[in-house]
Amino acid sequence: MDQQKQTAMELRLAQLPDLPTLPVIVLKIVELMNKPEISILEIAKLVSADQVITSKIIKVVNSPFYALRQEITNLQHALTYLGLDKVKSLVLTCSLITHLEGKGGGFNMKTFWEHSFGCGIVCRIIAEKIKAGPVENVYLAGLVHDLGEIAISTGFKAEFPAILRLVQTEGYSFHAAEQAVLGYTHCEVGGWLARRWRFPEDLVDTMEHHHDPTSATTAPTTVAIVNLADLFCRVRSLGYGFFENLDVSFEEEPGWKMLKANHPSLDGMDLERFTYELDEKMEEVLALIASVY
Ligand SMILES: [Fe+2]
Ligand SMILES: [Fe+2]
Repeated sequence: MDQQKQTAMELRLAQLPDLPTLPVIVLKIVELMNKPEISILEIAKLVSADQVITSKIIKVVNSPFYALRQEITNLQHALTYLGLDKVKSLVLTCSLITHLEGKGGGFNMKTFWEHSFGCGIVCRIIAEKIKAGPVENVYLAGLVHDLGEIAISTGFKAEFPAILRLVQTEGYSFHAAEQAVLGYTHCEVGGWLARRWRFPEDLVDTMEHHHDPTSATTAPTTVAIVNLADLFCRVRSLGYGFFENLDVSFEEEPGWKMLKANHPSLDGMDLERFTYELDEKMEEVLALIASVY
């Protein structure tokens, strides 16, 4: 994108009423997440100040996704049960869902989160398989990868209907439709947003480059995994509820080639079987969403 377009985009985004500013509590959570030496107690202290986020965490933790034997009713217990890594991503997820509630503009937030959670879960499975880690960070990257879409649907109200029309009636991907209408996409917008929110580097890289993993800068493995997980979800109708003209051969995908170059264990992998494994996980995704909404 040329400098002029970049400046115009940034000006428009900066004028959005509330999306570019995360609530103080979420900013503090992100800040804590960037510190390696945080404790569950510190997170619990911070989160308990926010009733909405707290109740969402308790709701999610009791969803079929976590398959608990006993209902958890207080925050401290929920966080201790999950362990630090999962706590970080769960807390950030719940704060984002809360912050973005009702702010989807032209987007149906439920289908947005279905796609995002689906992508996060597929990311986690791929990361476990190739031992890319920390797995929970890759999951989180999958979860936030498309947040730039929300900024477009709320902040570009005049253009969004044209984007949506291309997606719904012409079989465009959002990425291609945004490029055609705006001259840039939710990737550039997402990168801007992620920096503004002071997200960790791997999340910035993912939000900015997940449709072109070869241009990733700081976290190429994570970005390649998210790229593939995103494609998988779109092929498996965990897109945004629209039909996309997609003919994907995973072996030909740049993301797959990137992963294979660094993880030779992927060589003999039975992709068809793996796809089947992923399909089975989709039920978990739907259960998780149903618990949040
Ligand atoms: Fe995307
Ligand atoms: Fe996506």
